[in-house]
Amino acid sequence: MRLPAPLEHLQRRLAQAWHERAVTLKAASFALVGVVNTVVDYGVFLAGYYLVDLPLVPANVLAWLVAVSGSYVMNCYITFAAESGRQLRWRAYGAFVASGVAGVITNTAVLVLASRWMPVPAAKLLAIAASFVVNFSLSQNGRANDEASDSPPLRRPRTMRRQMRDDENLTAERPTFVTHLECSASGARYAADELHNLSREGKPLLVHYDLGGVKKALSKEALTRRPRDLWRYRELLPVRRARDIVSLGEPLTPIVALPRLAKTCAAGEILVKDESRLPTGSFKARGLAMAVSMAKALGVAHMAMPTNGNAGAALSAYASRAGIKTTVFCPADTPEVNVREIALQGATVYRVNGLIDDCGKLVAEGAAKVGWFDTSTLKEPYRIEGKKTMGLELAEQLGWELPDVILYPTGGGTGLIGMWKAFAELEAIGFIGSKRPRMVAVQATGCAPIVRAFDAGAEHAPRWEDAHTIAAGIRVPQAIGDFLILRAVRESGGFAIAVTDEAITAAIDEVARAEGLLLCPEGAATYAALTAALADGRVGRNDRAMLCNCATGLKYPLPASERTLDRSRPIDFAAL
Ligand SMILES: Cc1ncc(COP(=O)(O)O)c(C=O)c1O
Repeated sequence: MRLPAPLEHLQRRLAQAWHERAVTLKAASFALVGVVNTVVDYGVFLAGYYLVDLPLVPANVLAWLVAVSGSYVMNCYITFAAESGRQLRWRAYGAFVASGVAGVITNTAVLVLASRWMPVPAAKLLAIAASFVVNFSLSQNGRANDEASDSPPLRRPRTMRRQMRDDENLTAERPTFVTHLECSASGARYAADELHNLSREGKPLLVHYDLGGVKKALSKEALTRRPRDLWRYRELLPVRRARDIVSLGEPLTPIVALPRLAKTCAAGEILVKDESRLPTGSFKARGLAMAVSMAKALGVAHMAMPTNGNAGAALSAYASRAGIKTTVFCPADTPEVNVREIALQGATVYRVNGLIDDCGKLVAEGAAKVGWFDTSTLKEPYRIEGKKTMGLELAEQLGWELPDVILYPTGGGTGLIGMWKAFAELEAIGFIGSKRPRMVAVQATGCAPIVRAFDAGAEHAPRWEDAHTIAAGIRVPQAIGDFLILRAVRESGGFAIAVTDEAITAAIDEVARAEGLLLCPEGAATYAALTAALADGRVGRNDRAMLCNCATGLKYPLPASERTLDRSRPIDFAAL
């Protein structure tokens, strides 16, 4: 039976508070210091009122000064330390002291009023109880607002603003706002905090958040103070407890401009989101950091995955770090370095005589027969949440002003769907307006199911037979999230485009020579697509275009360099 929405919200917040170590510690410290407070406060008050004959209010204030003030400050300090970890946060501490003062005002007011209807000793007990409630709830609220507010409640020079340690996104508890999961096709609801694969309709599940809550809890300004990694967006991510985070250090990836090539192509601006700097050398780290963290939180023991290389490498690395077993299947011609990397990082990896969807069938069979957790693209709900951070990140890096067009090398499409989801969530929390980039799905002419479906106006993209391209990451003959990719592309006013392997090879060469940036073939496909779209007018000459370099070019075969030099012979340096 479903509870009414407000009760469900309350239940969720209480459960969340229960899991938050800081709140539990704080309640314990309040209880402990509270017992001492109550005895001393009560004793001093009764002595002052009955023995010394002080009037009601002075007796109460005296009791507070003697007993409660010191311990409130002490309590505030304990609470504050429990909540803020290793480092001193004076703003939070100030808020707690202020809430103590509010407590004594409440105490006195309740005492004065209640003593009109009941004996003074009973009124005093009521007053103590009321002041504790006010003090505790105000200090809780002060803590929540500490991160959220754009205007600090206590005036304080900016230089005193506390810088977080660079690992603190991984350790500081933050509220998370996941409400439920939803089937991307039927909209049916599924419970959060349970293990899921596809929906009953066999479609991807998407994570939903209490975006109103995020809006209240998170400000752009608070974000700027956090360490520069993927976990800074915790309120919009599914991992509830810091201890479940599995991280190899996921930095914000740079946006690299290509000014020379922009000039050569007569383009407005060409920017590259360079994902090669992530652990395991590709953007798959984003999705797998999230999927493995959630698998850890939900008690998964064995994960399995089909891969074209990069996703398997990220899975094996993160799962090994979490102590989770992994089995990985990849097409026989997957780049050698990927297979070795997957094996070295701890997975059991098999080359399979087939394509990625054939590998996917093996995973599904193993999941059914021996209980592996199927971690295939979009067959579990959290990889997309990790990929979403690419969209959150680029929006923040560009000052919350999205580019005009984003070109994304599309295989399973997680990144494209994830970025589209990120932009919707950012608008809902008031960080951006309604302006969106045109989303462009880039594929290879040897494997272009999404392009074919886009051109045909179809909702789904049937399997592409005999798929082949040097850009292994986008050799995906059929994507389970095809309708989500096509929907995002169409809603954005974008398009889908295929480029040849020759154009991809030429693009790697051109960008490396002109700008010194080594692209992976999938990233180079987006550059080739941009030049084609500039030529046919689908990208305008004034547009700011964002390309996605999803992996390091060093993982792929590079053209040979044959020159040698015999240093024992005379060298004509002018000819070198
Ligand atoms: C380098 C690279 N680019 C692009 C892709 C495609 O990503 P997506 O599955 O999000 O479409 C992959 C996937 O393996 C990849 O490894």
